[in-house]
Amino acid sequence: MKVLVTAASRHGSTAEIATIIASVLQASDLEAEVLPPEAVASVLGYDAVILGSAVYAGQWLEPARAFVTRHVDDLATRPVFLFSSGPLGCPSRRTAEPADAIAVETTTGAMDLQVFPGRLVGRDLSLSERLTATRTHLPYGDFRAWDDILDWTREIARYLHQESVVAGDPQRTHGAR
Ligand SMILES: Cc1cc2nc3c(=O)[nH]c(=O)nc-3n(C[C@H](O)[C@H](O)[C@H](O)COP(=O)(O)O)c2cc1C
Repeated sequence: MKVLVTAASRHGSTAEIATIIASVLQASDLEAEVLPPEAVASVLGYDAVILGSAVYAGQWLEPARAFVTRHVDDLATRPVFLFSSGPLGCPSRRTAEPADAIAVETTTGAMDLQVFPGRLVGRDLSLSERLTATRTHLPYGDFRAWDDILDWTREIARYLHQESVVAGDPQRTHGAR
């Protein structure tokens, strides 16, 4: 089983999540490759795809949305798992999934969509981002919930191992198409 892990990131924290996800998959005896969405020419060489994006102004970043548009047919024929990284601060500040992530979930027939808290570092931000952060009272800090990310990835790894065991079973939903 070869898994593509791809995430759109403006300031690196979602890209780091993708790297950790890939290393957990590798530790679970799966082959995993990390690439930015714009660098993926085709998903045909992968048995499953994990796609993530940072959330800005309530939206996924354009490279993640464009990735889905480019590969929509091939994504529909393999297991896809989605994550957003965005909400900042304590759990009460968590927001629902961005509408476009829900649309991606529907388009790709994704098996899951998770929202993980993100990270905001003042020195990384452009002036306009800093002004938005101040105006909308975004809290600075690293709120990424590594245990939740690790648990989610291990669950995916378990699922993919099961999928490869039943590879000859015509009843299975993914991978045989
Ligand atoms: C200008 C700005 C706007 C943001 N808007 C949102 C938002 O609408 N919803 C959200 O959940 N997070 C929002 N965030 C938080 C980012 O998604 C979070 O910092 C994320 O971890 C950044 O990921 P990256 O480092 O991969 O770019 C915003 C951050 C900035 C700086």
